[in-house]
Amino acid sequence: MQPRARWATKIGMILATAGAAVGLGNLLRFPVQASQYGGGAFMVPYFIFLLIMGIPMMWLEWTIGRLGGKYGHGTTPGIFNLLWHHPLARYLGVLGLVIPFILCIYYLYVCSWTLAFSFFSLGKLYYGFNDLKSMGMFLRSFQGIEKGYFNSILPAYIFFLITFFANFFIMYHGLAKGIERLCKLAMPALFLLAILLMIRALTLGTPDPTYPERNAINGLGFLWNPNFSELKHASTWLAAAGQIFFTLSLGLGTLQCYASYLREKDDIVLSGLAVTSLNETAEVILGGSIAIPAAVAFFGIQAISKGGAFDLAFLSTPLVLTHLPLGQIWGFLWFFLLFFAGLTSSVSIIQPFVSFLIDELNIPWKRAVIITAIAVFIPVHLVIFFLKYGFLDELDFWIDTVSLPLLGTIEVILFSWVYGINKGFEEMHKGAWLRVPNIYRFVLKYITPLCLITLFFIWIWQDGVRIFFLEGVPAENRPYRWLARGLILATFLLCSWLVHLAWKEKKNET
Ligand code: ALA
Repeated sequence: MQPRARWATKIGMILATAGAAVGLGNLLRFPVQASQYGGGAFMVPYFIFLLIMGIPMMWLEWTIGRLGGKYGHGTTPGIFNLLWHHPLARYLGVLGLVIPFILCIYYLYVCSWTLAFSFFSLGKLYYGFNDLKSMGMFLRSFQGIEKGYFNSILPAYIFFLITFFANFFIMYHGLAKGIERLCKLAMPALFLLAILLMIRALTLGTPDPTYPERNAINGLGFLWNPNFSELKHASTWLAAAGQIFFTLSLGLGTLQCYASYLREKDDIVLSGLAVTSLNETAEVILGGSIAIPAAVAFFGIQAISKGGAFDLAFLSTPLVLTHLPLGQIWGFLWFFLLFFAGLTSSVSIIQPFVSFLIDELNIPWKRAVIITAIAVFIPVHLVIFFLKYGFLDELDFWIDTVSLPLLGTIEVILFSWVYGINKGFEEMHKGAWLRVPNIYRFVLKYITPLCLITLFFIWIWQDGVRIFFLEGVPAENRPYRWLARGLILATFLLCSWLVHLAWKEKKNET
């Protein structure tokens, strides 16, 4: 067996894990979700779920990850097998390989758009498109969905290749020399840039005095004024739970994997809290104070496209930037900030598959990175070329909405009920500076699993069946939607087969 890689420094490890958590979800997904689901009222379920799911699940994933690392396992097939000595456990853990693998193939592509737009800002490429509609045409021609400013998908493909190679180049250099070094540089830069952009957005004043209601403060009001009637809808609670999972990278297989590179006596209670605090600062304070206030200041709330996080990033903000003095520089900084946030997350998403090859199939690090790069490179093309048919949306739906909470549910049941909450707590406190309040034994044993299971059933009842049968999806897109589902299933079968092979080898060795 190869000696296990380790984080070089504690601060590097915390920044790397914070880098995994702080991503496009904080700066784009959060403000859009909050404004769509009741503004300030959204923060009620958001904070409740942070307390009863986010923070305890963060401790749980660090605990099982560090435990796995002690026995040479960085991914959930091996980790679950430690929690439950039953062959089924490792096949349940396959989900922790499938989720990051599928997420990685579209996250990388979206991340490459942020890099592209940072250069488009410098070159003022999207200047002259004066409303959401024409900006939409610019974006769609870039994505190869329709002809327009760009006549081919080549520029998008080139930016994707740059992003792809940047990611795997970093991974190739290893844990401490690649990921840790990147995050030590990128995370402080990210926070600095975000603070700078927040100050700029909040000091925009009233750019057009003929519209006094258009100002950044009203943007904050639009985001935060509570609409408590939204709390009556189950969808608001589901959205808040989904956001907590996505933003903290829970149920993704990545935190467990990063924690497996800790030493046995490394503190995880305080580090888990530090990472959660950094993530929440980046999300609630910075994520909520840049894009939306700036868009409202220039164009009023109608400039906030209803299309979701991507539209806020690639339609509303470019529109704002064209009206801002030195907009090309601010635009470059904004999109570069998004690129940094995406990059530090995407490397964490790639890591579990690499770790699986190293830990369970005994493949050396560099070769494991190359194999993963090839395995990711092929299906990304489906995302790139079938984007207009909703291929990416379908993958995103199954990963974000279904799989993250599902893996979370499995691991909390294994940890609290099968492994045992008392044993789990003892493991959690090894090397800990702080004690987790005892109430969290109860929370992790009853509240978190109950909450997750209830939300899951509500979701199936409310949306799941309708979505499963592709209601409302145009007929011509349906084959591509099924193809996306086929890709997830094929990945699941392939990973199960790899798990089968790995454990057969282990049996032969013993
Ligand atoms: N946690 C990562 C994000 O927020 C995946 O983008």
